[in-house]
Amino acid sequence: MTGRERIFSGMRPTGQMHIGHYFGVLRNWVRLQHEYECIFGVADWHALTTSFENTKDLETHMIDMVTDWLSVGIDPQKCLLMVQSLVPEHAELHLLFSMITPVGWLERNPVLKQQLQDMGLKEAVGYGHLGYPVLMASDILIYKASKVPVGEDQVPHIEITREIARRFNSLYAPVFPEPQALLTDSPRILGIDGRKMSKSLGNHIGLSEPPGEVRRKVLAMFTDPEKIRRNDPGHPERCNVFTFHRATGNTRVEEIERDCRSGTLGCVTCKQELAEHLIRFLETIAPHRGEYEGKQELVREILVEGSRRARLLARETLEEARRAMGIHYGIAR
Ligand code: TRP
Repeated sequence: MTGRERIFSGMRPTGQMHIGHYFGVLRNWVRLQHEYECIFGVADWHALTTSFENTKDLETHMIDMVTDWLSVGIDPQKCLLMVQSLVPEHAELHLLFSMITPVGWLERNPVLKQQLQDMGLKEAVGYGHLGYPVLMASDILIYKASKVPVGEDQVPHIEITREIARRFNSLYAPVFPEPQALLTDSPRILGIDGRKMSKSLGNHIGLSEPPGEVRRKVLAMFTDPEKIRRNDPGHPERCNVFTFHRATGNTRVEEIERDCRSGTLGCVTCKQELAEHLIRFLETIAPHRGEYEGKQELVREILVEGSRRARLLARETLEEARRAMGIHYGIAR
């Protein structure tokens, strides 16, 4: 690999991607691969922290997710695509980091606090779940990545990663960089019901959604609640349908805004236009769909090869960390 700055980012295997993932994360990854040396990982161990009871779809979810990464233009010739559990060095570094990470840092993690509230888990939080940020620090630091593209919600984890790196470096030797989060200024796309877009809420539009489904879902979207009759003047700034027109680059966005405000454009017509526009948009953002869709074996080979190459990098850092900690004994493994 070249001397460019290195990026690591990961995603839990959640299955097929939706347009929220595209605007929030994937579009950014596709851009970054031209400027940085990128490693993108399937965080299957992270998925286990909360979904350890239901693992039967993990593999399908991984393949479906990575098929979508590839379809939108993540290029396996340019990036390393790997699977966390196929690079066990992450787990060993996690163990070493767990020795130097105060439990207080993890108990104060606002992401965990929020999850506990949402899930009503308080007493039952798993040991692995508590260590979520330590595992994430291992993912990033084992490749000495200096930048980490993530959503706003992950920033506290990057903070903990920096603290772990700093602590390791000051205790032993300056092995690790202190990585920074790379945030996107992506348009906020909500689900078709106006809540956060999420597959579990069934309010998403998938990147590989068939045209008929796109039409059905778009026609079910909420619009400006004050625009009841066709000719009522609307408020595009409060309308999720308008946000979609703008975010997906409809070139007629100015006319739509004007005609909605003046009451000449009705919501049904506006949604019909959005559906057709979205169908074309989904085709353009997934130019490689035909190369990967339904080609499980090809996708698996890409992940196996990426993990093999990632492992060579991970091993080197692990040797260095063991040496710095005094548990290398001059014995390479
Ligand atoms: N926790 C991240 C998320 O839920 C996924 C992830 C795992 C990750 N390891 C990472 C992101 C390392 C960035 C870097 O979105």
